[in-house]
Amino acid sequence: APIQAPDLGDCHQPVDVPATAPAINCCPTYSAGTVAIDFTPPPASSPLRVRPAAHLADRAYLAKYERAVSLMKKLPADDPRSFEQQWRVHCAYCDGAYDQVGFPGLEIQIHSCWLFFPWHRMYLYFHERILGKLIGDETFALPFWNWDAPNGMSFPAIYANRWSPLYDPRRNQAHLPPFPLDLDYSGTDTNIPKDQLIDQNLNIMKAELFMGQPYRAGDQPEPGAGTVESVPHNPVHRWTGDPRQPNGEDMGIFYSAARDPVFFAHHGNVDRMWHIRRALLFPGDTDFTDPDWLDASFFFYDEEARLVRVRVRDSLDPAALRFTYQDVGLPWLNAKP
Ligand code: C2O
Repeated sequence: APIQAPDLGDCHQPVDVPATAPAINCCPTYSAGTVAIDFTPPPASSPLRVRPAAHLADRAYLAKYERAVSLMKKLPADDPRSFEQQWRVHCAYCDGAYDQVGFPGLEIQIHSCWLFFPWHRMYLYFHERILGKLIGDETFALPFWNWDAPNGMSFPAIYANRWSPLYDPRRNQAHLPPFPLDLDYSGTDTNIPKDQLIDQNLNIMKAELFMGQPYRAGDQPEPGAGTVESVPHNPVHRWTGDPRQPNGEDMGIFYSAARDPVFFAHHGNVDRMWHIRRALLFPGDTDFTDPDWLDASFFFYDEEARLVRVRVRDSLDPAALRFTYQDVGLPWLNAKP
C-alpha cells in the first residue's frame, strides 16, 4: 500500500535530529479539525512560470524575488505560508516528526527512496506560489542553481549578499563565489585545478540518473536513494553548509536545510533533472507505474493557507503544474570521460 499523508495532529519531536542540534520544534502549524482539500492542478490557462537559472537572473527579477522572500519572512510565525513555517515542513517530513498512518513508531521519511523527487517538487510548487501571491505576480518562478553547467558551478551570487533576505550566515565561508563547486564533495576541498574539476562534475552528471528504491506503507525508512539524490544532491548540501556549526547547519543537515533560501534553488535544479529525464532523455518513460508510488500522498499548505492533500500522480507533469525551466542547454550530455 502507498505511504499516506500523515496525521498532522500527531506530529512529535523529530527522531532524526542529532543530539548536537539545538532544541527545535519542526511541527508545522496545524489546528485540530482542519479539513484538507484534494489537490487540483491550476487552470490550464494560467501563466506558465519559467524558472530562471540563478546565475542568469537579472536585476528586475532579483528585486521581485527578494521582495517576495522578505514578505514571506515578515508573515506571522504561525501563518503556514511564513518562512518560519516553510522550513519546518521540510524538517517534519525529513527528520521523522510524523509516523506512518497505521504504523505507530515507524517514521515517514521522504529521502532515500522513490518519494524524493515528487515530494520535493510539490514542496517547491507551493513555496513558489506563496511567494508569487505575496507580490501579486502569477508568473513568479523560483530560480534554479544550475550546478550541472560550468557557469553554475559555484555558489549563486544572488544568495551571497549579506543585506539580502536571500542571505544565510550559516554557510561555508570558504565556498563563496567564485570558489568552484565540487559535485562529489565529501567534506574536504580537492586541489585539482578548476578546469579538471569542471570536467569531473560534467562526468558525474552524465553518470547520474535516477529515482530511488520503492518505499510503501509499513516499510522501514530509507530503502535507498536514486543516483541524483546521492550525488550531486547530498554533496551540494554538504558543500554549502557551515563547518563552524555542529552539524553543518543550515544546508548541511536536513532538519535546518530549508532555512537557507538557497535550498529552493538547489532543489529547483534537482527537480529540473527529473524534468529533463522525463522530457528529454527518456521521453515516454513514466518512472514507475506502481500504484504504491502513484498514490503515495502528502500534505502541504497552499498560497491561500488551505491544507492540500497531494498524491505523487499529481506531481508528474510540470506543464500541468504550470511551470518550466529556462532552457540553458545540457553541457554534460556530451561530456568526454
Ligand atoms: Cu529534502 Cu535536499 O533535501
